[in-house]
Amino acid sequence: MRILLTAGPTYEPLDPVRFLGNRSTGKMGYALAEAFAAVGATVTLVSGPVALPAPANLLVRLTRVETAQQMFEVAAAVAPAVDIWVFAAAVADYRPADVATEKIKKAGDTLTLTLVKNVDIAATLGQTKRAEQFSVGFALETTDELAHAQAKLHRKNFDLIVLNSLRDAGAGFGHDTNKVAVLDRAGQVLNFELQAKTTLAHALVALILTRFSTAHA
Ligand code: CTP
Repeated sequence: MRILLTAGPTYEPLDPVRFLGNRSTGKMGYALAEAFAAVGATVTLVSGPVALPAPANLLVRLTRVETAQQMFEVAAAVAPAVDIWVFAAAVADYRPADVATEKIKKAGDTLTLTLVKNVDIAATLGQTKRAEQFSVGFALETTDELAHAQAKLHRKNFDLIVLNSLRDAGAGFGHDTNKVAVLDRAGQVLNFELQAKTTLAHALVALILTRFSTAHA
């Protein structure tokens, strides 16, 4: 079993010393990489900048990237040859239109940035997914969570989508615990109670592998 896993944030440079980023720590993605490796799967982990050590399991091959474009290029090169794609990264939707070659100097009372859209890694690869491949996405929503996650599942051609709840204390970015719901294409919703991300990762891997086998029985 071969797995492609994206994790962590992306950093989109503004000048040689500044970037636009987000608060993703990569903990859920790295826990998933360890959990897949624990059941004997080979994992290509494509990670944005995080403070976590590389997973110790030799079945995990880590490639570190900074930008969404770099993450896309590594993921696209690996995607055709793997069985399951898991998109756990918090990819920046936009990047600065221009990257200054020198540090931007302070001038004036306001500064306006123009941003341009980044490639949607999951959606772009989703268009190339073959019948025997399986894709899992993540979603972070603040309103109409289930409806938005269901729409995202179809838009990005996911087989499952893991919905993070931002309303629950102890869940999501920066925490060691998470509470999620997993939606499938038939509209079924499976709820996972608040638990350590490492424990949740094992439960999610078990579910993903079961669904993958059922889809290809
Ligand atoms: N994703 C991706 N590439 C992007 C943006 C998102 O691969 N440029 C993936 C994420 O890794 C996640 C899923 O798509 O698995 C949903 O990400 P999310 O940010 O919730 O979706 P968006 O399409 O950016 O929608 P929103 O308008 O809610 O930000």
